[in-house]
Amino acid sequence: MKGHDTALVDVSDEVLAKSKLAITKSLGRIQEKFSQDPKYGYLEGAEVFMSSALKRLTLTTDMKAFVESADIVIESIVENIDAKKKLFAEVDKVAAPKCIFASNTSSLPIAEIASATNRKDRFGGLHFFNPVPVMRLLEDTPGFIVNRLLMPYLGEAVRMLERGDATAKEIDQAMEMGTGYPMGPFKLADYIGLDIVKLILDGWHKRFPENRIFQPITVLDKLVSTGKLGRKTGEGFYKY
Ligand code: 3HC
Repeated sequence: MKGHDTALVDVSDEVLAKSKLAITKSLGRIQEKFSQDPKYGYLEGAEVFMSSALKRLTLTTDMKAFVESADIVIESIVENIDAKKKLFAEVDKVAAPKCIFASNTSSLPIAEIASATNRKDRFGGLHFFNPVPVMRLLEDTPGFIVNRLLMPYLGEAVRMLERGDATAKEIDQAMEMGTGYPMGPFKLADYIGLDIVKLILDGWHKRFPENRIFQPITVLDKLVSTGKLGRKTGEGFYKY
């Protein structure tokens, strides 16, 4: 969208096909907006925007071919420190010395991930927020301000539900109407993905076992273990 040639690399062609659909759909929403805006030349400008954005994007399973010539590599795989370190160690072998590495991790320490590479001076955090084409924050602050506050908040909402204090719908309504949040905690957790929320909380629990706020939550664990991960699987706290 911003004019950079970009390659999206995954290990699965099936995932890439799904990604292409999601990206095309998202670009379509932006094209629709531009098609009504004189600034973008109405429909013609909107079509040029969409087709040139798609032309700059390659979807591939061949990591090596693209990493060799990349200026920046942004990793966005599963929230598991060993998996991230293993991937970066591989990428480090093929990337050019000038190439900058970044992790989109939501919660893991950047210095520890970077320790798997020989470019600690060219390694950073680059954390996007959902939905990425719309949210304006890109956080690379040490400490991950948003998730450090957001995850305990989502966890406390689930504990409130678990205690039977209120339903998910009531809690969402209260936070939307009372604090002006665009989505209440259950809608947002379903949107982020319950597996992601659990991985983040579990990771912190492992590092700070005495902190009550990161303790496992039965309702959340049950939903994740039964494959109810939120919007992406058609069911989480709500059905879609
Ligand atoms: N692609 C492109 N455009 C999109 C889009 C997408 N995926 N999703 C929404 N939009 C656009 C719409 O076209 C619309 O544009 P317009 O206002 O110019 O017409 C605009 O965004 C608003 O969308 P909607 O009218 O459909 O709906 P809402 O007004 O409810 O907004 C929302 C949707 C932006 C998702 C809003 O509900 C919101 O801000 N929710 C909270 C999101 C949030 O808290 N994100 C952070 C999650 S934490 C995280 O990601 C970190 C991770 O590490 C866990």
